[in-house]
Amino acid sequence: IKKIAVLTSGGDAPGMNAAIRGVVRGALSEGLEVFGVYDGYYGLYHNKIKQLNRYSVSDVINRGGTFLGSARFPEFKDREVRAKCAEVLRSHGIDALVVIGGDGSYTGAKLLTEEYGVACIGLPGTIDNDVPGTDYTIGYQTALETAVEAIDRLRDTCSSHQRIAIVEIMGRHCSDLTISAAIAGGCEYIVASEHAFDREELIQQIERSIANGKRHAIVAITELITDVHELAKEIEARVKHETRATVLGHIQRGGTPCAYDRILASRMGVYAVELLLQGKAGYCVGIQNEQLVHHDIIDAINNMRRPFKEDLMKVSEKLF
Ligand code: F6P
Repeated sequence: IKKIAVLTSGGDAPGMNAAIRGVVRGALSEGLEVFGVYDGYYGLYHNKIKQLNRYSVSDVINRGGTFLGSARFPEFKDREVRAKCAEVLRSHGIDALVVIGGDGSYTGAKLLTEEYGVACIGLPGTIDNDVPGTDYTIGYQTALETAVEAIDRLRDTCSSHQRIAIVEIMGRHCSDLTISAAIAGGCEYIVASEHAFDREELIQQIERSIANGKRHAIVAITELITDVHELAKEIEARVKHETRATVLGHIQRGGTPCAYDRILASRMGVYAVELLLQGKAGYCVGIQNEQLVHHDIIDAINNMRRPFKEDLMKVSEKLF
């Protein structure tokens, strides 16, 4: 391997820049040439590729988002589209690609390896913490801090006004962010996507605690479960207590990456290059029990579903 490329794909996450920097500097230190693919697989298809040097990644370790840009590109599922992407890489003499993104991006990377012999390594980059084969994804810890800070702010206002606050937290179908943010933020109720949502039970619980003299409460709920503004109206009508809903939305995706994410991303970036130099391809990188690991991408996707954080849910039930 002489020339490698790096791209970021799917939703951006804080720490992606640190991961790109890890790949670039890790590769340069081994005498490889490195190329940046702009705007994910979409940019690869459109040949948006530029050679990077060590200064291309100066002053990015502390920046959120991804300076390479990212995109969702469902067309990559199409074999002809992948063939064109492989051809673009070949035209630059690039033999390996590091893909930083979620599990959707992983599948594409594996296919490029299997179908066209491009040596691909996947790094888990998403705030959702929903990628198999790793305890933590790049961006998760920063998004968690952001969500906790938002909850702290909501607590100030809802306690001043004796209101119920509903806070909707991102994560797609994974509630790691919600549960951890709720525990750290002292939320009274958690609605997680991994459990069936019992609307009636939630309302009755709130009713009971208000009847017992509780003056305010915070409900943390994962996105895509219900319309939180409708839920707020319903709670207010039933419980006769002012209720407001806040959707944190993309605020959670931006911002300065925390130290943990910068270090994790740097380690993973360097490790990806080491794997490529060992001739490994079609693998994804993870951190498990504080050790860097790599797994076959398909094995990770098919057999390493991340377990729901039932233990944390149990802790939270004791705290409220
Ligand atoms: O995967 C990251 C994420 O922020 C999810 O939490 C969320 O469901 C989704 O991306 C939002 O995607 P988009 O930015 O394309 O609207």
